[in-house]
Amino acid sequence: MEENEKSLLWNSSFSVGVQEIDEQHKKLVEILNELVYLVGKELKDEKQNIDVTVKKIIEYKTIHFATEEKYFKQFDFDGAEEHIQKHREFSQKTGELLADFGSTGEKIHLVELLDFMEIWFVDHMLNMDSKYKECFKQHGLK
Ligand SMILES: [Fe+2]
Ligand SMILES: [Fe+2]
Repeated sequence: MEENEKSLLWNSSFSVGVQEIDEQHKKLVEILNELVYLVGKELKDEKQNIDVTVKKIIEYKTIHFATEEKYFKQFDFDGAEEHIQKHREFSQKTGELLADFGSTGEKIHLVELLDFMEIWFVDHMLNMDSKYKECFKQHGLK
């Protein structure tokens, strides 16, 4: 996949020290970059691919959130409530932006959706996911 100025690049500051979760984050970066690539193309030519990719992101984030939340419960993680709330906000906001794109079919809404997801995702990994690092480590995850 070609890179462009909107492509997300993985770097070690994103790591939460748990292989399973780092791999899920990398996979999400990869699918987001697929969308970056498609958004750079002619919308009418890529409509179907865009729909497939957006669906992949939504499905995969659901799996990913469920993984983190499973461990929160298992380890009785202190910050669970706040963190789960952030996941819910993401799902709600992306749902709204997706509905805007679905009803208008306008690229601007797709760009808005992509920008939101990219900014949210990086910020969330660095500022929220990093908070469970210590807890997960103490419970032997790696
Ligand atoms: Fe995460
Ligand atoms: Fe998270």
